[in-house]
Amino acid sequence: MSTGHISVLLQEAVDALEPHTGGVYIDGTFGGGGHTTELLTRLHGDATVYAIDADPDAMVRADELRAMDIGRGLIPVHDNFRNLAAIGSEQRIPPVNGILLDLGLSSFQLDQADRGFAFRFDGPLDMRFDPTHGPSAADIVNTYTQEEIADIIWRYGEESRSRQIARAIVERRKRQPFTSTADLASVVENAVGGRRGKAIHPATKTFQALRIAVNDELTALESVLTAAVDLLAPRGRLAVISFHSLEDRIVKQFMALESTDCICPPDVPVCVCHHSARLKRIGKPVRPTAQEQAANSRSRSAIMRVAARLN
Ligand SMILES: C[S@@+](CC[C@H](N)C(=O)[O-])C[C@H]1O[C@@H](n2cnc3c(N)ncnc32)[C@H](O)[C@@H]1O
Repeated sequence: MSTGHISVLLQEAVDALEPHTGGVYIDGTFGGGGHTTELLTRLHGDATVYAIDADPDAMVRADELRAMDIGRGLIPVHDNFRNLAAIGSEQRIPPVNGILLDLGLSSFQLDQADRGFAFRFDGPLDMRFDPTHGPSAADIVNTYTQEEIADIIWRYGEESRSRQIARAIVERRKRQPFTSTADLASVVENAVGGRRGKAIHPATKTFQALRIAVNDELTALESVLTAAVDLLAPRGRLAVISFHSLEDRIVKQFMALESTDCICPPDVPVCVCHHSARLKRIGKPVRPTAQEQAANSRSRSAIMRVAARLN
């Protein structure tokens, strides 16, 4: 049962988009619609918002918002944001004034056992943002080689015991394939010698890694960032909220590169790259206040970076 989703950096993110009446916005991660609802409320519904989410359940919530008066300018788009360039042409999206990406998963997804994101309760080992297609977490742990599984857990979970865990997964699947979250969590826990008084469950990093791999999250992020800059109107804002260092590194490096004119190596006397900056970074990275962190533990790792499109 879901208890709903508390939007992270709600006011800060909407402020960052500098909403104005009649503006056009893209919410690339509609989720529970918290950020979009705040934006539309501030503008009394007088704006167009393309609400993208890979999750069909999020589209049900988008349709509900659309049925409300403030939601009259909402255009729900069920797709992966990695396809933003194609979505832009298919939907004939005009230059936009703001794009928000609030990465990762929503509490709706985390709290719904049958989506298979959590080990707190048992559910099918799925983890797909869009459960209608693509390989699930069960497909990965049951069919990838031991090396591939270790690599995923190491790279996306930054888990130092990745090899130990991958070995235990492969040993166990010889007897019986994995089908459930609790089953995988207990195999991971045993592989690393139990909880041993740790505050976080020993399977936390493995679950994060599998989720990132299942949804190919980092590649999707790289694709959407480039397409987002292409769609922004002059002075249009891009705000990205990340929840772990792997995502934030990509956003930080992307914004730094796009804010730089020449990117030639320092020993090249005359510019040969002809690269020109398309973005200007706005302010410092924003983190939730202590008050927000205390009220919403999911916000603790959040960091938002904001940039504006140059003319
Ligand atoms: C943190 S939630 C967004 C919450 C939302 N901002 C709110 O205030 O309710 C992230 C959402 O992004 C979606 N998502 C994550 N990666 C995606 C992708 N590559 N393409 C489309 N949607 C994605 C997830 O399905 C999830 O619903």
